[in-house]
Amino acid sequence: MIAYYFKNIIISIVAFLLFAVTVILPVNLMKITVSPAVFETGGDYYNIVWETSFKGTGCVKYTYKGEEKVIWDSNNGIITSDDTVHSVRVPKQELRGNTYTVESQHIPFKFAYHCLKGKKTESAPIVFGGEKKEDGINILCIADIHEMEDKMNEALSHIEEKPDLICMIGDITSEMRTKDQFTKFLLKDAAELSGSAIPVVYTRGNHETRGEYAGVLADYLGDEHGKFYYTFEFGPLSAVVIDSGEDKEDSHKEYSGLVNFEQLRNEEYEWLCELDKKDFDGKYKIVFSHEPKLDDHFGKDWTKPLKELGMDLVVGGHWHQSKIEEGELPMFIVGGNLGNGNWAASIIRLENGKISLLTVDREGNLLIERDV
Ligand SMILES: [Fe+2]
Repeated sequence: MIAYYFKNIIISIVAFLLFAVTVILPVNLMKITVSPAVFETGGDYYNIVWETSFKGTGCVKYTYKGEEKVIWDSNNGIITSDDTVHSVRVPKQELRGNTYTVESQHIPFKFAYHCLKGKKTESAPIVFGGEKKEDGINILCIADIHEMEDKMNEALSHIEEKPDLICMIGDITSEMRTKDQFTKFLLKDAAELSGSAIPVVYTRGNHETRGEYAGVLADYLGDEHGKFYYTFEFGPLSAVVIDSGEDKEDSHKEYSGLVNFEQLRNEEYEWLCELDKKDFDGKYKIVFSHEPKLDDHFGKDWTKPLKELGMDLVVGGHWHQSKIEEGELPMFIVGGNLGNGNWAASIIRLENGKISLLTVDREGNLLIERDV
C-alpha cells in the first residue's frame, strides 16, 4: 500500500514538473526569435518565414476585402506543430499594401487524441509594401555575405536609396550544416534587410548546398514545387531566377558522392528552354543567378534561351568581385566579400527605361556607377 501511494506521488510530481517546464515556464519564453521575411517564390504566392524559441504552430493573419484571414503553416490538412521555423504561403495580391501579423503557439506534446498547448506569441502589425509601381524601382542586391554581416552593414550605410525589393544572390552562409546556420544568418539577414515589409528574392548559392540541413531549405524557401528556380514579375520587372547549384562536377571528392546536380541542371535547362517570351512583357528583364557566367554552364549555353527571352542583364555573385562583364548578355557582379576585409553592396535602379547599377564598399568608395 505504501509503495502504491509512493508511486502515485512520484507520478504526480513528474506530471507537475512536466506541466511546469512545458506550459508554465515558457510563459515569457515563447517568442519570435527571427522576425518574418516575405520570400518571392514565383507564381501567385509569397512564403512568409519566421522562427520561434520553441516548436509550435504558425499562422499569418490579415484582413482582405473586409474578411479576416488566418492562413496556417500546414501540410495536407495537418497544422505543422513540430518545428521552430514556420513557413506560410500567402496570396501576393492579398498581402500587397496590406498589414499582417504572424502568430505561433508552443505545442510541447502532441499525442494521437490530445495535446499539451503552451503559450502564444504574436508579432506587431507589419505594413507590407510590394505594391506594383510603374517605374522607379530600387533593388538592393547582396551576395556572398559569408557571415560577414558587420562589414555588409558598413557598406549598406553608404546606400541612401530605399529598396523596393531585396535580392539575396547566394552564399549568405559558408555552409548549411545546421538549422541555426539557416535561421541566424540567411533568415535573419532576409528579415532585417527587408524589415519584414518588402519581398526578398533568394537565389541559392553553391555554399548553401553544403551540409546536412541544405536539403531542408526548400521546405521554407522553395516554390510550389520545392524548387529554387522560377520566374517572377515585380512592377515593370520581368525576372528569371536561376539555381546554379554546385560549382563543380558531381564526382568531385568534396561532395562524397551525395549530390545529383546533373539531373537538376538537366531539368532546369529544359524548363528554361520552354519558357515563353510572351510571358516576359516587363520593361526591364533581369536574370538573377549566383554563378553569373552561364554561356558554358557545365557544357551548355544557358544564355541562348535567356537571350531569346529578351533578357537585358545577368546579376550574380560567386566571384567575390565588383565588376561588369560586357557582352550580348552583360553580367553585373554585385560584390559581397571582396577579400582583404573589404565588402561591397549594390543597388539597381530601374527608371525611364534605364537599368542603373551602383556598387559601394564598406568605406563608401564608389566602385561602380553605370547604366546598361
Ligand atoms: Fe559561391
